[in-house]
Amino acid sequence: MNNFCRNMPKIELHAHLNGSISQPTMLKLMRYYADSGIEDKSNAFINEFQIGAGDSRILSIIDCFQFVTIAQSLTRFPEALKLATLLTLQEFHEEGCIYIELRSTPRNTQYMTMKQYIETIIEAIRESSLQITLVSKYIISIDRRSAISEAEKIINLAIDSHKQHQDVVVGVELSGDPTVGKFSDFLPAFSRAREAGLKVTLHCGEICNVEEILEMIEFNPDRIGHGTCIHPDYGGTAETWSALCESKIPVEVCLTSNIKTKSSPDYSSHHFKKLYEANIPVIICTDDKGVFITSLSQEHQICADTFNLDESEMVKITLQACNFVFAEGLKDTLQKRINDVMCKN
Ligand code: IMP
Ligand code: ZN
Repeated sequence: MNNFCRNMPKIELHAHLNGSISQPTMLKLMRYYADSGIEDKSNAFINEFQIGAGDSRILSIIDCFQFVTIAQSLTRFPEALKLATLLTLQEFHEEGCIYIELRSTPRNTQYMTMKQYIETIIEAIRESSLQITLVSKYIISIDRRSAISEAEKIINLAIDSHKQHQDVVVGVELSGDPTVGKFSDFLPAFSRAREAGLKVTLHCGEICNVEEILEMIEFNPDRIGHGTCIHPDYGGTAETWSALCESKIPVEVCLTSNIKTKSSPDYSSHHFKKLYEANIPVIICTDDKGVFITSLSQEHQICADTFNLDESEMVKITLQACNFVFAEGLKDTLQKRINDVMCKN
């Protein structure tokens, strides 16, 4: 099976750029700073970026956010952000990913505005499409720790960039520390984005918060991320679970992320099984492959091994993922690419 998951063309729908930066990419970014003569302190922290199994520094999901700040500091210059995006897309391509929706939170840094941040990622995506056969799109993130006025500003930028670059900017998403902020405060901004033609995905149920889970499902996003605490056995209620089952909203599942952030105790008790058995569409994703030391192939492998899924079931999950990509009109092409490779093997 090992080679099978590696060789199967795969779809990535939940990958945060700064959390996806690998150690080799970090080293290249540090070389960029050294070559440009810019003093950079990341060197001292690079070995602290990754989270190993049972890492004693991690007590909950909140502890993980500090790790991403190391990568965020490395992408504070437009040139470095572009390089990080190109290298990360290249890595996904090298392990058989054929379509990716990369997400990232626009930041005002000392060296670029949020608008420049968005434009830099778009530029990198366009450049990478000339070099590799990976179809890449951009989902603009809203951090739930941000003020509503900032979220509104990012939604305005997302709407503008979607108008200008409809083939790249396909959606918006809500992420960040799940213990901070309320979805209901961000709802008007997300409604505006949806009305403007952007698709929406929400990190949902990362912690037990019945009221918010119900509000999110009622909003009917195009997809949700994680969906951990929705089933009653995992901190949800009969009401949250039946709302999800009725809505059939696809769930972006990130197995290793949930284990390393201690949202799930171990792989075998992960809520994937509940979702799969209830016929809720699932998409296997990495979340933050750099921080959690994983890859898209590895996540597929772990899923197959843990839940005893055979090759045909893995292909079925991947073909189904194509139904939920945010880019319009690509479903058939992607499914054909997958079928062509799988028929040859
Ligand atoms: P960036 O948006 O490219 O800077 O990627 C890092 C950001 O993604 C973090 O600061 C968080 O806001 C978000 N993020 C990464 N992993 C998770 C997660 O597991 N839950 C919620 N938010 C996350
Ligand atoms: Zn995430």
